[in-house]
Amino acid sequence: MEGRYRYWDDVQLFHNALPEIDFEEVDPSVEFFGKRLQAPLMITGMTGGYPGAVTINSNLARAAADLGIAMGVGSERAAILKGNFPESYSCVAKFAVPLKFANIGAPQIIAQAPGEQVIGLAEAKAAMDLIGADGLAIHLNFLQELVQPEGDRRARGCLDQIHQLARDLPVLAKETGAGMSRFVGDRLRAAGVRAFDVSGTGGTSFAAVEHYRAVAQGAIREARVGKTFWNWGVPSPVSVRELVPLELPIVASGGIRSGLDVARAVALGATAAGIAGGVLRAAATGPKETRAELEQIIYEFKVAMFLTGSRTLEELHRARYVLTGETRQWLER
Ligand SMILES: Cc1cc2nc3c(=O)[nH]c(=O)nc-3n(C[C@H](O)[C@H](O)[C@H](O)COP(=O)(O)O)c2cc1C
Repeated sequence: MEGRYRYWDDVQLFHNALPEIDFEEVDPSVEFFGKRLQAPLMITGMTGGYPGAVTINSNLARAAADLGIAMGVGSERAAILKGNFPESYSCVAKFAVPLKFANIGAPQIIAQAPGEQVIGLAEAKAAMDLIGADGLAIHLNFLQELVQPEGDRRARGCLDQIHQLARDLPVLAKETGAGMSRFVGDRLRAAGVRAFDVSGTGGTSFAAVEHYRAVAQGAIREARVGKTFWNWGVPSPVSVRELVPLELPIVASGGIRSGLDVARAVALGATAAGIAGGVLRAAATGPKETRAELEQIIYEFKVAMFLTGSRTLEELHRARYVLTGETRQWLER
């Protein structure tokens, strides 16, 4: 369930008709979060907490290990607070994924009701230990919560709690499809987060996903909210540009569907790109399909590097581009 508009198509890289490098020389590797990745790509958190997720997370982890890219798991709330199917997360630890992120939600680090159990430092550490994680992704998903009839409505105090957790743990702050502004990035950086995953508008729309769930549950008010806010948020490329001045590593995500999109993200200043929805079908199909989809994306990324005359990621960061369409309007505001 995608957003209405493909913002990445508004980032047009200049073709270099005379690259003066050999395709074989192109080096897509990058250092991110203290680890070397063979390509600037991360499979961002999607699933866990039910038996079928063992297959999906294992397929993703096998491919991430084989290709030398980063990976996150879906929200670990169910496993950490309720003990639901921990093996659907821990299965990723069987594979030599170079960089792994545990995942918890910002709504769960504060009490939603008096006396409710929250994810504090001990639980966050347990989430990391479960998969042998190098970092802790804390996701911000308040748009999604507001389209869920049973969703969490309290957000006061999240920033303080992120600050507490980031004192002891390497935290990456991520959105879930509605993007980030500089205002938010500034506060998160001051709270001690070490990297951002923008997850901007233009890819998977959680307002859309929850709209259909709300319809199925007969929740008329939330179903309409989902429709109204289907395309709400800061577009992914705009989110990247908002955060670049903060000088922390950025994962550009939300609508990454090809290797060309990855190159566009890096040219805008991202350290790596993140993909979720674009690899989900392959991950649900099988290990070969998962690897093939990600290999294709990495190959296309190398093609884009070559055709911009970029031998390294540093050179791609300096590639010329033109912004068009709605993305340009956002950035000219
Ligand atoms: C099926 C599905 C489940 C997801 N679950 C989570 C989650 O549990 N935690 C999280 O941080 N993000 C979750 N996400 C958000 C993704 O990590 C990503 O930020 C978002 O989907 C935008 O990327 P995309 O356009 O490539 O899908 C989920 C995405 C999908 C498609």
